[in-house]
Amino acid sequence: MNNNTAPQPAVTPRHPDSRLQSDWLFLYEKLPPNLWYASDYAYKTSGWLNVHTNIRKRQRIMRELSEEYQMGALNWDNYRSQILQRIGMHVMKLHQHHSVEDKGFFPEFVSSYPQLKRGFEILERDHVKLDALLDDMLIINDEIAKADKEDKALAERLYKNLLAGSDFLSQHLTDEEDLVIPILGLRNS
Ligand SMILES: [Fe+2]
Ligand SMILES: [Fe+2]
Repeated sequence: MNNNTAPQPAVTPRHPDSRLQSDWLFLYEKLPPNLWYASDYAYKTSGWLNVHTNIRKRQRIMRELSEEYQMGALNWDNYRSQILQRIGMHVMKLHQHHSVEDKGFFPEFVSSYPQLKRGFEILERDHVKLDALLDDMLIINDEIAKADKEDKALAERLYKNLLAGSDFLSQHLTDEEDLVIPILGLRNS
């Protein structure tokens, strides 16, 4: 039997446009994504992952509603009422989530792993950019709430915001998970 083993490829972050550098992935190598839900780790990792799952889901539903309206599959009244129910909650929850990360978790992680500081700075800058998109989304939401007549330009502004936000949010959440989830899974508490 041939015991020669081919050199293992270096681990790569999951997002195709990840900003994470290979020397920030030493914990990700120890706890790769296929282990995140294993019984030894899930009780420490699933809370964070579930929050992100819900964020992705809320964003996806709003983007789909917008797409349906843009394609003519949803009328204005139906679109408007469904969108209005969702935006306020989504924006509030995401702002809260970013605030908890920026003020609590990220500084704690950087003090445990100073070599990851630049990675967390990227994620904090993402929050600034995402928060601006969320603030814009809330302004559009207020205008939709006041619009009693169909306003296609307004709906298109929201659609563009959701498209831009969805791609960027996906990149942010995936990079954040690759950096954070191994920290959570491998720590003792
Ligand atoms: Fe974040
Ligand atoms: Fe997050």
